Amino acid sequence: MFSLSLHAVALCAFASAAFALPRPVPAQVAREVTGSVEPLAHQAPDAQVLILGGGVAGVIAARSLAKQGITDFIIVEARDELGGRMRSAAFGAPNRRLTVELGANWIQGTQKGNGPANPIFELALKHNLNTVESDTDTSMTTYDVNGAVNYLDVFKNALDAFTQFTIAAAARLPGNLVDLTARAGYSLIGQKPKSPHEIVSEYYTFDWEFAQTPEQSSFIASAWGMNWTYNVNQGGFSEDNLLSVDQRGFKYLIQAEAAEFLHPSQILLQATVATIEYSDSGVSVILMDGTKLTAQYAICTFSLGVLQNDDVWFDPPLPAWKAEAIYSMTMGTYTKIFLQFHQKFWFDTQFALYADSERGRYPVWQGLDIDGFLPGSGVVFATVTGDYSKRIEAMTDAQVQSEVMEVLRAMFPNVTVPEPTAFLFPRWFSDPLYRGSFSTWPASFVPQHRINLRAPIGRLWFSGEAMSEKYFGYLHGAYFEGEATGKQIVGCIKGQQCNPQRPILGIQNTYPYGV
Ligand SMILES: Cc1cc2nc3c(=O)[nH]c(=O)nc-3n(C[C@H](O)[C@H](O)[C@H](O)COP(=O)(O)OP(=O)(O)OC[C@H]3O[C@@H](n4cnc5c(N)ncnc54)[C@H](O)[C@@H]3O)c2cc1C
Ligand SMILES: *[C@@H]1O[C@H](CO)[C@@H](O)[C@H](O)[C@H]1NC(C)=O
Ligand SMILES: *[C@@H]1O[C@H](CO)[C@@H](O)[C@H](O)[C@H]1NC(C)=O
Repeated sequence: MFSLSLHAVALCAFASAAFALPRPVPAQVAREVTGSVEPLAHQAPDAQVLILGGGVAGVIAARSLAKQGITDFIIVEARDELGGRMRSAAFGAPNRRLTVELGANWIQGTQKGNGPANPIFELALKHNLNTVESDTDTSMTTYDVNGAVNYLDVFKNALDAFTQFTIAAAARLPGNLVDLTARAGYSLIGQKPKSPHEIVSEYYTFDWEFAQTPEQSSFIASAWGMNWTYNVNQGGFSEDNLLSVDQRGFKYLIQAEAAEFLHPSQILLQATVATIEYSDSGVSVILMDGTKLTAQYAICTFSLGVLQNDDVWFDPPLPAWKAEAIYSMTMGTYTKIFLQFHQKFWFDTQFALYADSERGRYPVWQGLDIDGFLPGSGVVFATVTGDYSKRIEAMTDAQVQSEVMEVLRAMFPNVTVPEPTAFLFPRWFSDPLYRGSFSTWPASFVPQHRINLRAPIGRLWFSGEAMSEKYFGYLHGAYFEGEATGKQIVGCIKGQQCNPQRPILGIQNTYPYGV
């Protein structure tokens, strides 16, 4: 096992890498000089497999190769550590700093009895991660523009409505009825929220989970997504949510797992991919510094947002069927806004809702200054999603802070709310390594699109959270996809079973256009 000091890993990875690092040249220049991937046959590749991205999918794909004895791979990661969207930060005034999670925070669904286990839960147990049960349904206080107002009855109705929603969605499956927007689904079961209390309650059950509005999301896939994760009668893990409060960061579980099987020479950190050249015989990757790496296979685990925003160039350009699939899935954004105060002055429950006249305006609040969580931390955070996240990413921190403070002062009219001692929020959508937080399934994304999103092109494979049919958006989705891609490449390398999914060309309506 190597040292978990990430800096050391980075240095080792560079020092002992099995390839010579050429003189840095800009990517465009390198492309002209080195030409296409054709000469691959004449030169020894740098590795059998390049794993592009060191998040959960990349690390688990690597583990699945290593388990089958294929160790000639390199994980290429832009950041200085593994973990991807499992990303923590030190937060707080200098004398009161603690670790908070900017990205993934919950193990969503655990295990009931001997039923199927969430593999992230299993990793958390294996690596002794410090988690606490998150009571998302009953530990709730409700507020609106007039301060504390009890509308828990409205909130409970929204929770029940979501169950009805999943049942109504399932009723469409046997007859193969077309998908609808989640908004249409809600309307069909008579749920038409109008008051701010009803709207924020719906927001909590829907947007707060999917990072997109019901208008932007699939009726059917949203329902099965929730079932597959949470509903034990439907193949899900359990109803429980465990929140990581581990001060090593939630990412510790994947870094500790990686440390068990990865050798430093198999990781290249601080290496940003600019261009991916691919063919039926191999893949080569050009980094921002001009370094070119070649391999027989590559697995691209970059987020859907990265694929959608041309942050990485493909040569040749991706075919139309792949581009259509990439643009047809949605990358949502989920933003946690952390505040620290000298003293706790807020609710004692784990959660609070704030009903504004504007849907999605700083609606969900979470206290961390609670026994079993981070007592004494003075930390509370708000969450915004979707277009509201994009809106605040375009504002300055000071502007966002002043809006958030305005909301807190509305929630607590009888408290003299002081300015926070620390304030922080990540900009996932603006970050060229992510371009959002996690994928969500819109109504216009048909099952054939998902097959195409996942299908390899030549020796270039695609993996990651967004490719998962049952668990898109989740850590366990990234895990299962990484594992599956790794296994398939093992089959191809060993020549036992190599069955790459073929794309579906020209996805059609079942009924012709009438014009
Ligand atoms: C705010 C937020 C909250 C979330 N909450 C939860 C939660 O509570 N529970 C849950 O289960 N899931 C949650 N998720 C989703 C979960 O984090 C993801 O599904 C999962 O981490 C995705 O893993 P991945 O390996 O598919 O992708 P990634 O983690 O994105 O891995 C891809 C890697 O590629 C790297 N990369 C990108 N571009 C380049 C490049 N050009 N060159 C080199 N490297 C590059 C990235 O740095 C990254 O490390 C959340 C995500 C976010 C952002
Ligand atoms: C604020 O204080 C007033 C007067 O004491 C009280 O009537 C009111 O209910 C309080 N409001 C809240 C939201 O606590
Ligand atoms: C979701 O689970 C409910 C049971 O709570 C079930 O009735 C419904 O059919 C499931 N829906 C889907 C889409 O799987």
